[in-house]
Amino acid sequence: MQFGHFEDQKKEYVISNCRTPLPWINYLGSDEFFALLSNTGGGYAFYKDAKLRRITRYRYNNLPLDQDGFHIYIKEKDVIWNPGWQPSKTELDSYECRHGLGYSIITGTKNKLSVRQELYVPKYDNILLMRVTVNNTSDQPKNVDLFSFVEFCLWDAQDDTTNFQRNYSTGEVEVEGSNIYHKTEYRERRNHYAVFFANKKIDSFDTSRDSFMGLYGSPSSPEAVENGRCNDSIAHGWQPVGAHHIHLQLQANETYDVIFGLAYVEVPEKEKFIAPGIINKAPAKKLIARYDNNKKFDAGMKKLRQFWDELLQGFEVRTQNEKVDRMVNIWNAYQCMVTFNMSRSASYYESGIGRGMGFRDSCQDLLGFVHMIPERARERILDIAATQKADGGAYHQYQPLTKKGNSDIGGGFNDDPLWLIACTDAYIRETGDWDILKEKVDFDNDPKNAAPLLEHLRRSFNYTLNNLGPHKLPLIGRADWNDCLNLNCFSRYPGESFQISGPSEGPVAESVFIAGMFVKYGKAYSEILKHLKKNKEAKEAIRAVQDMEKAVLKDGWDGRWFLRAYDAFGKKVGSRYNDEGKIFIEPQGMCIMAGIGVESGEAQKALDSVQERLETKYGIVLQNPAYTTYRLNLGEISSYPPGYKENAGIFCHNNPWIVFAETIMGHGNRAFELYKKTCPAFLEEISEIHRTEPYVYCQMVAGKDAPTFGEGKNSWLTGTAAWTFTVLTQGILGIQPDYEGLKVDPCIPDYVKEYKVNRRFRNTMYHITIRNESGAQKGVKKILVDRKQIEGKIIPVCDKKNVKVEVII
Ligand code: GLC
Ligand code: GLC
Repeated sequence: MQFGHFEDQKKEYVISNCRTPLPWINYLGSDEFFALLSNTGGGYAFYKDAKLRRITRYRYNNLPLDQDGFHIYIKEKDVIWNPGWQPSKTELDSYECRHGLGYSIITGTKNKLSVRQELYVPKYDNILLMRVTVNNTSDQPKNVDLFSFVEFCLWDAQDDTTNFQRNYSTGEVEVEGSNIYHKTEYRERRNHYAVFFANKKIDSFDTSRDSFMGLYGSPSSPEAVENGRCNDSIAHGWQPVGAHHIHLQLQANETYDVIFGLAYVEVPEKEKFIAPGIINKAPAKKLIARYDNNKKFDAGMKKLRQFWDELLQGFEVRTQNEKVDRMVNIWNAYQCMVTFNMSRSASYYESGIGRGMGFRDSCQDLLGFVHMIPERARERILDIAATQKADGGAYHQYQPLTKKGNSDIGGGFNDDPLWLIACTDAYIRETGDWDILKEKVDFDNDPKNAAPLLEHLRRSFNYTLNNLGPHKLPLIGRADWNDCLNLNCFSRYPGESFQISGPSEGPVAESVFIAGMFVKYGKAYSEILKHLKKNKEAKEAIRAVQDMEKAVLKDGWDGRWFLRAYDAFGKKVGSRYNDEGKIFIEPQGMCIMAGIGVESGEAQKALDSVQERLETKYGIVLQNPAYTTYRLNLGEISSYPPGYKENAGIFCHNNPWIVFAETIMGHGNRAFELYKKTCPAFLEEISEIHRTEPYVYCQMVAGKDAPTFGEGKNSWLTGTAAWTFTVLTQGILGIQPDYEGLKVDPCIPDYVKEYKVNRRFRNTMYHITIRNESGAQKGVKKILVDRKQIEGKIIPVCDKKNVKVEVII
């Protein structure tokens, strides 16, 4: 069942049934100010950091669901309704929500009154804009009351939901004309406030929640709305809110519009007040003045659309499959940008309070956006590297506001350092900017401890070598990519961390997955050294890589697939000798991507085993058979009921690793078949089962052992976005940025006869046509660059603006 449809021309997803199986959301903002917005007007806003600078409240597991947000209430006669349907849930005569790139438009109609809510965050300004257009489509005059409503968060989202004894007394506001200022804690250490404005004259307002809602009132029918006017309340403590009320008398066919805006404003320390206790509103007014009429609102929207159009033009495909095209050209790329901005911090499933930016997460996300925003990717790499520890290890997470490593969780996740090589390598291939390696970067954010980025890569590489176990395989530490495979923690008591309790790091438990990573990214590292003419070091690196490869084939091979790990007692994990958890997806994907066993036959056997034991109609489960009991020696993985999350869920993130592996083996048919299984555009028609948004990936789909097999969870913030984008564009469509040029090496289904790609690469636009007349799956026969045949598969970098490329396979 579908709840909407794609409109590719406009780059929009159009939701026509408001009762989506879950809130289907969009991200507004692409610089420093962000708002999440659901299809029924729910959501929340923050500046930079969803924990430390939260602007509005959101109750994630609330009942009813998704009540907090940016709602508009309409009252006509005795009927109260919202254009987005929630929170009143009054039946609408028509409803539509268009989620576009960085904006959304929600339209509801009721009794011949149409109300449209257009929301976006303009480029480079810290403000959420919302234009409300009311149209009386009847032939009679109408009397209508219109209300806006937001509930402020007292900045620190953690404190806001826990420390009530204090924060019920701190709330403060000021109101001037149509502007409502939220200034809690501004009197003391904060230099920022929020302002909620309207560009038209208002008839009344409220800033006290109790006053607007009524003491025991509910968002579905606030008392002020029922009464047809607000109470001009001024909040002192408790719950400060912002509500505007405008009374409208609309003639037949008359249209009225008003622009609301919610802004974050910082004021220099010395200019904070204009009189005792009275805040300096000048910077707010300046900002508001940039968006206070329709012309300015439209211009901001136009600029935003241009921004996205230009960004996406750098990679456009025309295959004969519209679903593939819309993923590459629009939604998968868009999701990659959202993960760039958010890492795993703020979604409807990540509260923005628990974790900041993940070290490995941000490194992997970069693979998906480096071609769109290379400058910001560069900055990101340097930021991440600066949190690396001096021994080459890494803080597992860092806070976006401070960019400092998070010492609560600390380090010891032994895959982390190698992801730094992965993203730096991807960046250099994309940009050719070798100078980044000379950039001086702190260790542990300590300027006294700065060294060139290359030194960071060296320590990442050596970190693995300095932490080998009894089989000469890498020690796993607290966990590797699989945060829930905790072989050293022995978390025994409720509430104890699975990752950082107990001994948590040990000298025995080893990861075959990290071994695969070391081979893959170790090869890249040695290529980098070669390029820098550090030949001796490059050779040593390759020797270490070869040793690791041998160790994997000797002690990391289980006969028909790659083993997952050795636990703290030296026992096998992910082996035919285990009763449950016999085979895991991660080492199969990573080892084959690293090239291990490709020539000698193990790779093919492993892929056959994946197909036989892990593949389902909705994708590949993480392991099998699922653990049916909690196991102290394995940790969090066995804490989940069978079929969920890491315990045999379909973890979408590592499905593309198997797709990559299939392309390495030359299996274009298989690769595409697997690609489709988790791709949201291909799941749109079963939205009642899949439940999450059909335009973005979710982290996890319930596996075959789960009662809710096929149900997605945790949409948006997942490494799946970057990896699926990368596997489709590089592995399948075969457009691979390389050090010296753009490599073309597709691996496609044999029935695909032709497709076209426009790819911006180092200031040149490549217009590539790939022809497959012979019905092959892989194997480039000939490449013509501006009609001249070249040797090999790499189109050398040139200084032309446009280049025409023809590829025959
Ligand atoms: C989550 C984490 C990621 C981890 C994965 C598997 O997606 O953000 O870092 O690799 O789970 O446990
Ligand atoms: C990852 C896993 C999640 C686990 C968390 C612990 O995000 O997906 O299941 O709780 O890591 O850090």
